[in-house]
Amino acid sequence: MPARDSIFAPERYAATRLPIEEATPLPPDVYFSEEWYEREVETIFRKEWLVATREEEIPNPGDYVRLDIVDEPLVIIRGDDGVIRALSASCRHRGSELMAGSGNCRKIVCPYHSWTYALDGRLQATPSMQDAVDFDKNDYPLPSLRAETWAGFVFINFDPDATPLLQSLGGLVDRLASYRMEDMVVTKKWENRFQSNWKIWVENSREGYHVRTVHRGSLDTFYPGAVRTAFHAEGEPMVYAINSSDNENGLYVPRGHTLPFVDGLSDSDNEATHFIIHYPHLLLNVPPDRITFHQYFPEGPDWVRITSWCCFPKSTVELPNFETDVEEMYYPSMDMFLAEDKGVCELVHRGIGGHMASLSRYSPSEERTVHEFSNYVLDRVLGPK
Ligand code: FES
Ligand SMILES: [Fe+2]
Repeated sequence: MPARDSIFAPERYAATRLPIEEATPLPPDVYFSEEWYEREVETIFRKEWLVATREEEIPNPGDYVRLDIVDEPLVIIRGDDGVIRALSASCRHRGSELMAGSGNCRKIVCPYHSWTYALDGRLQATPSMQDAVDFDKNDYPLPSLRAETWAGFVFINFDPDATPLLQSLGGLVDRLASYRMEDMVVTKKWENRFQSNWKIWVENSREGYHVRTVHRGSLDTFYPGAVRTAFHAEGEPMVYAINSSDNENGLYVPRGHTLPFVDGLSDSDNEATHFIIHYPHLLLNVPPDRITFHQYFPEGPDWVRITSWCCFPKSTVELPNFETDVEEMYYPSMDMFLAEDKGVCELVHRGIGGHMASLSRYSPSEERTVHEFSNYVLDRVLGPK
């Protein structure tokens, strides 16, 4: 049992555990504390499925992307057998980082002393090691973690005992099948780094309360007055929220758009945008014509690195007006609202950093998902209440 003055003492969080009508946001120190952050890494980021990339980013054998996830250098690589693997990018000799960026390779060759690995991580060549006693290169493959796919997304998991990805996604798999996300392709990515705790970014992305203030010139023009109904998909343990509004064209789609909706969606899906979170890491927005999602990795308590992705159906990308339309109607608003969200996340991080920061209450009608997320973090870091 942690001491009463420990940051891990459950009684410190009793007010956040209350029903939202009475609850208080998380205390500011959980956004700054190194020891709290380390516990989050251990209980959340090293336990749960994390979005690594999209399958179409590495379509051919030898295609790879390097990622740093919670201080772990990894390479996501497609093998000669077509299988996608997540391998450590640290050489088994003296540890050099093996590769950078993204690209294609036939073998993984260490840039330091040329130890060479197959695409599945087996160590194959070790120059000048013939005198090393009891050294068998078969004993030194690159360590791997679990990599599984759904709807074109590649997820990884550090925990060998984690529930299989499709099972952990629960009802989302069936609920989103008609969007055929596996037939979509990445059309643009945005890279950002916010000087903000990762939880501030997730909280911000979960509520529409700030839209009419922060995004009044960008996103709010797309879906003024959106109505939010949140529910849990069947079998889905985490929040699954749908917005719908009386805005024309299913709200999260620019007015006057010409790009088609996905064929065969239900009438209600044609009029809605699904704002989905599968904690901790899938922040997925699904309007009828495309998907956008945000992949984020904390870098200590004070920084979060975010890649935002936009994907359209392949058939849409082939349309002659595609490039003009996305450049004029779709991408500029993403540029704007990412800049706006960066600004406000950094404001919050600075604002709650002082000793006098003292938070009060959530809006029950607007911040239910923020409250749920706070309790998700508490459940992981402290254990269920
Ligand atoms: S550290 Fe990789 S070959 Fe020496
Ligand atoms: Fe926002």
